[in-house]
Amino acid sequence: MHRWSIAACYTLEVAKVIVGVGGGIAAYKAALLVRELGRRGHTVKVVMTRAAQRFVGPVTFTGLTGEAPVVDLWDPSYAGEVHVELAAWADGLVVAPATANLMARAAHGIADDALTATLLCFDGPRVFAPAMHHRMWDHPATARNVATLAADGVRLAGPVSGPLASGESGMGRMAEPETIAEALEAALSDGRPADDLAGRHVLVSAGGTREALDPVRFLGNRSTGRMGYALAERAAARGARVTLVSAPTALAIPPGVDRVDVTSALEMKAAIDAARDGADAIVMAAAVADYRPSERADDKLKKTGGPLTVTMVRNPDILAELGAWRADSPRSGAGPVLVGFAVETRDLVAAARGKLERKRVDLVVANEADAAFGRATNRVTLVDATGEEALPELDKARVADRILDRVVALLRR
Ligand code: C5P
Repeated sequence: MHRWSIAACYTLEVAKVIVGVGGGIAAYKAALLVRELGRRGHTVKVVMTRAAQRFVGPVTFTGLTGEAPVVDLWDPSYAGEVHVELAAWADGLVVAPATANLMARAAHGIADDALTATLLCFDGPRVFAPAMHHRMWDHPATARNVATLAADGVRLAGPVSGPLASGESGMGRMAEPETIAEALEAALSDGRPADDLAGRHVLVSAGGTREALDPVRFLGNRSTGRMGYALAERAAARGARVTLVSAPTALAIPPGVDRVDVTSALEMKAAIDAARDGADAIVMAAAVADYRPSERADDKLKKTGGPLTVTMVRNPDILAELGAWRADSPRSGAGPVLVGFAVETRDLVAAARGKLERKRVDLVVANEADAAFGRATNRVTLVDATGEEALPELDKARVADRILDRVVALLRR
């Protein structure tokens, strides 16, 4: 794919990224950066300087990317011109650690190894993460080189102040891998917010419902609401008007999101039904209880000598009812895009496909119970009428973006 189409809509695509590793002690953190970029769904190729190999072995990167890093411009095993091919392949390039020497060579257009030659061939988004002793960072020669690189369009991530390899403390410590990954993604998006949901109303449910037994006790589940909140947050960031129907969670209302607080499945159904007209998409990320106690005691239940028996009755299946409502609508085929979740402990994809058909929805996001609850990341498979897409383990904001990419595509049908 052409680099600028990726830059214009980075929330829609993951990127092909070159990580250039320079020769400094922070090179070990480049391994963490490569892993972080992979976790975010990007494909990574690594290029190392000769000095970098003194700090971290190429095999480490082979293990992380599945491909040996490029270390030598003259290696006869590379077909063609490796620096030209790498630069043509990549959407973005990050240098970490960017040592004083490497920045000096890059600033002057010196191309005496695989990394600096690749840098000269590549004119897409570039991020440098400097790392050096604070006196090297403060030196006017480094300052000149940094200014030259910035004028050439390179973005900097860090350095930050903190403990240095010398045992001293000061400015020159490499930024954390997550910060560098964020800077690269910002460079890939060219600072432009994606607004592919502008003018749309997205209704999201989140959290685990609570079904009251008595005034102080309830039956609940392990949902923390993080996936639903990530969906609400990303939909709002992409320009949508967002209504978030939330069962109790410990999470803050995401910026720009209109939250409706509910407790039980019946309350959630009432809130969703009140908001469903006019919604362009409804994403049911909530863990809705299938059953509720048939009665809620007016007073706190007292212990007795014997066992306690609670009779449970079925709750409405909100999503299935939305599917039926849409199918029965006089404007057949119209109505909001419907997305459901399937959390299972076994036969995940088959169960998700069953739900897709039974509940008459457009997309089911399938996740294993262990990978889903309470964690910052999630590993999901997207199941629709045309097939399945298994995503790698990604943080929940990236999973949310991938789900919203599908919603955008379904809205364009
Ligand atoms: O059938 P199951 O509970 O596994 O389906 C999960 C999907 O259905 C989720 O999207 C969930 O929000 C939704 N659901 C619902 N009402 C229920 C139970 C589940 O909307 N009573």
